[in-house]
Amino acid sequence: MNARPSGPLQPRLVLLCLPLLWAASCNQTPPEPESGSPETGPGGENPAVVAVDTHSFAEPERVRVRHVSLDLEADFEQRIVRGSVRLDVDRTDRSAPLTLDVGDGITVSAVEGADQTAREFSIGDPVEHLGRPLRIQLADSDESVTVRYEANVEAAAVQWLEPSQTEGGRQPFLYTQGQSIFTRTWIPLQDSPGVRVTYDATIRCPEDLVAVMSADVRIVKRPGVTEFRLTKPIPPYLIALAIGDLAKRELSERCAVWAEPSLVEAAANEFEDMPSMLAISESLFGPYRWGRYDVLVLPPAFPFGGMENPCLTFATPTILAGDKSLVALIAHELAHSWSGNLVTNATWRDFWLNEGFTVYCEQRIVEALFGPERAAMEIRNGLTDLAHDLADLEEQDEILHIDLSGRHPDDGFSSIPYDKGAALLRRIEEIVGRERFDEYLTKWFSQHEFVSVDTETFVSFLRAELPEAAEAVDLETWINAPGLPSDAPSPASDALDRIDAMRTAFLSSGDATQLDRSSWTTMETLRFLRGLPDGTDPARLDDLDQRLEFTASTNAEILAAWLERRVHNNQDELPVTIRETLEAFLLRVGRRKFLTPLYEAYFHSDADAARALYERARPRYHAVSRGTLDALLDWSSDD
Ligand code: BES
Ligand code: ZN
Repeated sequence: MNARPSGPLQPRLVLLCLPLLWAASCNQTPPEPESGSPETGPGGENPAVVAVDTHSFAEPERVRVRHVSLDLEADFEQRIVRGSVRLDVDRTDRSAPLTLDVGDGITVSAVEGADQTAREFSIGDPVEHLGRPLRIQLADSDESVTVRYEANVEAAAVQWLEPSQTEGGRQPFLYTQGQSIFTRTWIPLQDSPGVRVTYDATIRCPEDLVAVMSADVRIVKRPGVTEFRLTKPIPPYLIALAIGDLAKRELSERCAVWAEPSLVEAAANEFEDMPSMLAISESLFGPYRWGRYDVLVLPPAFPFGGMENPCLTFATPTILAGDKSLVALIAHELAHSWSGNLVTNATWRDFWLNEGFTVYCEQRIVEALFGPERAAMEIRNGLTDLAHDLADLEEQDEILHIDLSGRHPDDGFSSIPYDKGAALLRRIEEIVGRERFDEYLTKWFSQHEFVSVDTETFVSFLRAELPEAAEAVDLETWINAPGLPSDAPSPASDALDRIDAMRTAFLSSGDATQLDRSSWTTMETLRFLRGLPDGTDPARLDDLDQRLEFTASTNAEILAAWLERRVHNNQDELPVTIRETLEAFLLRVGRRKFLTPLYEAYFHSDADAARALYERARPRYHAVSRGTLDALLDWSSDD
């Protein structure tokens, strides 16, 4: 059944009694706006309407959580996270209960008030995708409550890995993935990106394991007990934990790499440029507000390329190519320290504000570090991905300000928020020039620092700061219509044009001996591979492989792009080496971006073999990847 949110979850507009609308909506004298207060809109104007999050049961306008204090034990034997969370609240409506989100997998055993005596609580009916509301009756004096609970193996945020899924093979591993609405599966809280919280945590784990979190303070109290604190307010999806056999290598005073001991050296070499990226970012976007910037390299099961957990980006090991060719991903996650973590999408409809700004910023970091040629290649490749998605997506999903009510927020995940979002910003830059655009960008970050903003705020800020751009660009079409507007800028790249010409020549002559990829960058190789059309003769692809050795590539992006083209275009039996390489890759790597096209291609080529492999590999994947692949392969849990 496709249960839709009902009652308080229906999209509603909350009129805030803010000065501009005051006279019309409230029959009282407006309060003096505090200058620079988060409630006050940018540039003096006020957002009269606050976007409501249809993906949370919380009613923060009545009772709002402001601080989260965790005391948790990770029980690797039973695969349970257990303990308590104390929530400090602001109570605007003192008669209202505190309403939290709880996802599947959480069992609440008790709730206590500030005086440590029991409080009544009730758990409402589940709503598809959202979990259930937990309503707590507060006593008059309660400024905090403590929830005692455990999160079992069903908690979608948490992945427990067998030692065999790690590099070292001897210790288990645990990590959490909160974005978009998974934090509620391991912590009962108000899981809405508009409800910013500070947090602290005491984490207990086996003595020989190391715990790290998205926090600026980390204190090892004694083996097996670590304390954390993040003093800046963040949306709950950024609370993250990892526990495993981890070592650390410093790169500078502010930057370090965490990874399993046998990988940490390679990771430190690959990410050597992190301190320069941070310095470049500060010069482009304003001061870095989070203290440290570290990267944690996770086991290959991690479902994303990277996740911008504050102070500690989580990253897939599949970007360790040995030649730094995939470090744009680190630039991307670092850029989220401004776009996303400092200025956050208020609801998941506004996700393009997180990712579109971040892709734009990532490309600026790449340009400053590696030059405009490389940046142009990344932009052009992004636009090609976008064109592919536009060919497949439903029109409603091609809209930046997408309507996601009744759906899972991750249904909106595609190149649209990323590359169409970034294209809008590049279009604005093209109109006003780089100097003014850069001023606008730093002001966007500083005026909305530690604030969650919606698309409306983007529009009003643009009108106030860059009126000629707001006038020249058809914002309504860019933001609310499907497709890519024709004024989207596309930079020239001679390098990519040369690659396209070589591919065309190869396809018409069938002669691979003319090709030599020793001088190609990874971007160029990916361009070559991804442009091989459907229907290319597999024998011709095998010639290509013999010459250019794609099956032997140790670069995961190149290998995945090659396997996708080869398997998708297969006609008879897959050659043994291709099948073995494909299966080994799918059994090891859990990154959804690779799994989706590879399973699609495998299914297309040999549906039975693809499903048999999925059955073996599925227990090794994170819930995020399982969700996508179950739908793709029409898999139900009784299969
Ligand atoms: N924040 C995203 C990952 C994400 C998005 C997780 C939505 C859950 C829901 C992260 O910053 C990201 O975009 N990662 C990309 C890499 C990037 C270079 C495009 C990825 O994982 O591939
Ligand atoms: Zn991102």
